[in-house]
Amino acid sequence: MQTLTVQLDERSYPIFIGPQLLDQAAELLPELAQRQLLIVTNHTVGDLYLVRLQQQFSAARVLVHYIGDGEQFKSLDSYAAIMSDLIGAGFNRDCAVLALGGGVVGDIAGFVAATYQRGVDFYQIPTTLLAQVDSSVGGKTAVNHPGGKNLIGAFYQPRAVLIDCDVLNSLAPRDFYCGLAEVVKYGIIHDADFFGWLEQQQQALLARDSATLQYAIASSCRIKADIVAADEREQDVRALLNLGHTFGHAIEAANDYNQWRHGEAVAAGTVIASRLAVAMQLLSASDFRRIVALLQALQLPVKAPAMPWETWLQYMQRDKKVKAGKLRFVLPTAIGKSKLLTDCDEELVAAAIADAS
Ligand SMILES: NC(=O)c1ccc[n+]([C@@H]2O[C@H](COP(=O)([O-])OP(=O)(O)OC[C@H]3O[C@@H](n4cnc5c(N)ncnc54)[C@H](O)[C@@H]3O)[C@@H](O)[C@H]2O)c1
Ligand SMILES: [Zn+2]
Repeated sequence: MQTLTVQLDERSYPIFIGPQLLDQAAELLPELAQRQLLIVTNHTVGDLYLVRLQQQFSAARVLVHYIGDGEQFKSLDSYAAIMSDLIGAGFNRDCAVLALGGGVVGDIAGFVAATYQRGVDFYQIPTTLLAQVDSSVGGKTAVNHPGGKNLIGAFYQPRAVLIDCDVLNSLAPRDFYCGLAEVVKYGIIHDADFFGWLEQQQQALLARDSATLQYAIASSCRIKADIVAADEREQDVRALLNLGHTFGHAIEAANDYNQWRHGEAVAAGTVIASRLAVAMQLLSASDFRRIVALLQALQLPVKAPAMPWETWLQYMQRDKKVKAGKLRFVLPTAIGKSKLLTDCDEELVAAAIADAS
C-alpha cells in the first residue's frame, strides 16, 4: 500500500492506495469505529462492494443511502432526499459521510457533507478510475442544475481518500478508458517522465494489470495533490487540470450529456487544445503526434463531433473559466508542460476545432 498526503495545513489528509483496501478500512480509518456513518452509494456499486465496507464498521451505526445510477441523479432532488435521511435518523454533527462510488456519488455526498449542519466529516472511497485519479482528490463537490453542470457546490476537502485498485476490475470498458483520459492529462500538463512511462505501459494498462494501475493512480494522485496544495481554490495553477476541458465540456453539453462520456470529451478536447498549441507555435508537431497516438492507443476518441462554430462558442462561453468574457484555454507547450492562455485568436481556435473534427 502507498500513502500520499494532500498538504493543506490543518486540513491535510491521506490518500491510501493499494489492493484490497476495502477490507482494511477499519484499520486505516480507526476514527470511524463508533460513529454514526452515512454511506452514499448506488445499486451498481453497492451490490458489489457495500457488504465488505459495512463489515468493517460493525460497531458503528451505519445508514445507507442509494442514489440512482447516472449523472442525472447528481441533482438537488437527490441531495434533498439524502438530507431527509440524515435528519430523519437524527444524525448529529459528529457523524461522517462516506462516498462509495464514482464521481457522481462522490460529488453529491461531498456536497451533503459540506452542508449538513454546516459541515461534517467526509470520506471518499472512489470506485471508478476517474474518481480515483481525479474527482475524489481536491475537494470540489457539487450537484447539477437544469441550467448547467456543477453549478451548485462547495470546496470541501475529505478527511481521507481510500483507493482500492482492485474494484476497477468490475468497471465497464468505456468507464475504464474514460479514467485513462485524465491519467494521460497529468502526464501532458506536468510530468514528461510519467507520459513516457504511460507510452511504454499501454498493454499493461489496458489489461488492468494491478501493479501498473496502482503506479498510474498513485502518480496521478501525487500530481493532483501537489497542484491542489499549491492552489486549492483554482486561482492559478489548478486551472491547468482543465486541459481539454473547455472543449470537452462544450462537446458534452451540446450532446445533452448522454452521447459523450466526460473522459471521451476530454480526450477529443485535449487533441483540439494540442492542435491549437501547434498552430500558435507553442507545441512541436512531434509532441502533438505523441499525444494523439497515446490517447488513441488507450481506446479514446481523438476526433470531436462536427458542430457549428456558433454551437462551440455558445457552450464554451458558459465555461466557468471564462473571465471578463474572454475564452481561456490550457495549452500544452511540450509533453510535461502547459500554460493557461487568456487571449486566443478566435480564428485559430475555430481552425483547430475544424481540423480535429
Ligand atoms: N469533483 C471533481 O473534482 C470532479 C472531477 C472530475 C469529474 N467529476 C464529476 O464526476 C462525475 C463522473 O464520474 P465517473 O466517471 O466516475 O461516473 P459515475 O460516477 O457515473 O460512474 C460511472 C459508472 O460506473 C459505475 N461504477 C462505479 N464504480 C464501479 C465499479 N467499481 N464497478 C462497476 N461499475 C462501477 C457507476 O455506477 C456508473 O454507472 C461527473 O459528475 C463529473 O462532473 C468531479
Ligand atoms: Zn475531467
